[in-house]
Amino acid sequence: MTKKTVTDLDVSGKRVIVRVDFNVPLKDGVITDDNRIKGALPTIEYLVKNNAKVILMSHLGKVNHKDAEKTEADKAKNNMAPIAVRLQSYLPESKVTFVAETRGEELEKAISELEDGNIVLMQNTRYEAGESKNDADLAAYWASLGDLFVTDAFGSVHRAHASTVGIANHLPSALGFLVEKEVKFLTEAIYNPQRPFVAILGGAKVSDKINVIENLLDVADKVIVGGGMAYTFYKAMGREIGTSLVEMDRIDVAKAVMEKAGDKLILPVDTVVASEFSPNAEPVTVASDSIPADMMGLDIGPKSIELFKKALDGAKTVVWNGPMGVFEFETFAKGTLEVCKTITELPGALTVIGGGDSAAAAIQLGFKDKITHISTGGGASLEFMEGKELPGIAAIQDK
Ligand code: 3PG
Ligand code: MG
Repeated sequence: MTKKTVTDLDVSGKRVIVRVDFNVPLKDGVITDDNRIKGALPTIEYLVKNNAKVILMSHLGKVNHKDAEKTEADKAKNNMAPIAVRLQSYLPESKVTFVAETRGEELEKAISELEDGNIVLMQNTRYEAGESKNDADLAAYWASLGDLFVTDAFGSVHRAHASTVGIANHLPSALGFLVEKEVKFLTEAIYNPQRPFVAILGGAKVSDKINVIENLLDVADKVIVGGGMAYTFYKAMGREIGTSLVEMDRIDVAKAVMEKAGDKLILPVDTVVASEFSPNAEPVTVASDSIPADMMGLDIGPKSIELFKKALDGAKTVVWNGPMGVFEFETFAKGTLEVCKTITELPGALTVIGGGDSAAAAIQLGFKDKITHISTGGGASLEFMEGKELPGIAAIQDK
């Protein structure tokens, strides 16, 4: 890595702005998954231990700035206050002060009174309309609140926003430990894989993953495709897919991918279908070329599980992004569960799971500690796997 990391900075007594990704799922104001908060703790703890004054910034959800009524509703829904409470519980030695503003006197006062080793968490960066536009004045203002800038928001490094990129233009900067770790594992898997290297892609849409499929076809030995996007491939083969998910405008792309991939691309051979999208729907297993016209595919079938297991046998590197079926419904979770289990049982393999749904699935199914690395970034890990430059990392100073 050519970028500076937090250990390259002299942080003692300094005001260190850390962009974290605390965009965690909330249900009725309660955090339902705090892996992203935990992911940033090593950097925060390091700064605390080294007597920095820590200023944390993150976005949470999305805030509409076009319609005033919606702006207020989104702000109320995406208030960071519960996150400060959770953070304090993980850092009992430090005082975490939450400031419910993104600018002004209260924020400036809290920072000027901040003691070494203590923490200020600022309100949701997206309360500011300028955040997502990478507004130059906003970035300069936020940068004026600190002496140094550290990015540890891996989940947001694909966004060129004021708090991810803009601030970095004003201050000495470095990567935090989470970003460093994410980049290390993703680079090892995609750019320097031990072979055989098998990629598994799933999820609902071909359009989300097409660039990843294309990039991985160049570097992986096999690419397994499951989940909702498999039906667009079947449609491209001229098959009946019933009422399954399909993207008609991606059929040509799917055809082109199949032609280019040859037998590198492995598709499911059977499908668990049902007549409705419901956790209580009756599951029926059919061959993938025999989906009834009035039914939809919701998971891969047992023969596909066997086929995928065989394709994974002996793999030394596995990258997985996107579930094999509707794992949120127990009846249709088997494909995702079995594939995940298979990955965890590969001896000596480097296994990396992209963020988003597949990370949620692996954690929910209890495999968290058996995977080499589960990314905290959904969109960010996808863009990394597409081979794109990530602006939030590019903005950081070189060593
Ligand atoms: C995410 O959850 O994907 C990241 O936190 C980025 O959020 P965004 O997709 O709303 O920019
Ligand atoms: Mg997102």
